[in-house]
Amino acid sequence: MSASLPHPPTHVAIIMDGNGRWARRQGKPRIEGHKAGAESVRRIVEACSEFGVRYLTLYAFSTENWRRPPREVAELMRLLERFLAERLEDLERHDIRLNAIGDLERLPLPVRRGLSRVMEATRDNSSGVLTLALSYGSRAEIASAARRLAEDVAKGVLSPEQIDEEALAARLYTADLPDPDLVIRTAGEMRLSNFLLWQASYAEIWVTDKTWPEFDADLFRQALDDYGRRERRFGKVPNA
Ligand code: IPE
Ligand code: IPE
Ligand code: MG
Repeated sequence: MSASLPHPPTHVAIIMDGNGRWARRQGKPRIEGHKAGAESVRRIVEACSEFGVRYLTLYAFSTENWRRPPREVAELMRLLERFLAERLEDLERHDIRLNAIGDLERLPLPVRRGLSRVMEATRDNSSGVLTLALSYGSRAEIASAARRLAEDVAKGVLSPEQIDEEALAARLYTADLPDPDLVIRTAGEMRLSNFLLWQASYAEIWVTDKTWPEFDADLFRQALDDYGRRERRFGKVPNA
């Protein structure tokens, strides 16, 4: 099945929301929603290879999500660990490099180990990049970039006049990623929830009422088709 799109977005970032609501509707515990969500991740990584999307960034756990009940957090961390153990094969098959952004130091040791192992194993893969946003918060990211700018000024390797958009962007977790072209959010909420606030400045936003466990290649394709019909102006006048 080859369905590569003529002009797919280079970078798609997804706020994977609605696992809990999906589970509740099925009369299941929330963790079952997260398990079903992990299946969606597998499908969408696959679909990216098929549709020609080179960069996929998934919001998997926010800094604010640490405030969830400890049991849910522990279960999410275990799922993440399992995901890392099981998905290496798919990433290798599709020649995808794994990347992670966020305050990774806060993650439990087995998750950090799993991340390092898969990132190391896939470091030379070059057809695509899967970035997991884990313990990620955009404001914390921007604040830490500002701190690093201040440190560089204090060390004398940077002058205040040299602080511009590029200098700040170079100190974000996403320094070596292009900005997202398209941000998808599942489960209907019209908000960014502290995700890529700087990087998504000119991203197109696409929201579906379907929950993350229901998100599949067909719906993804629909998002990409809708994206393809939008006119991105970047503040300029419409194309003549
Ligand atoms: C998204 O689903 C997964 C994470 C945020 C980790 P939710 O767990 O937020 O599901 P809802 O929003 O409660 O339905
Ligand atoms: C956003 O979902 C974070 C992730 C998808 C990881 P949330 O469920 O945490 O967002 P809010 O609380 O509805 O804004
Ligand atoms: Mg939610």
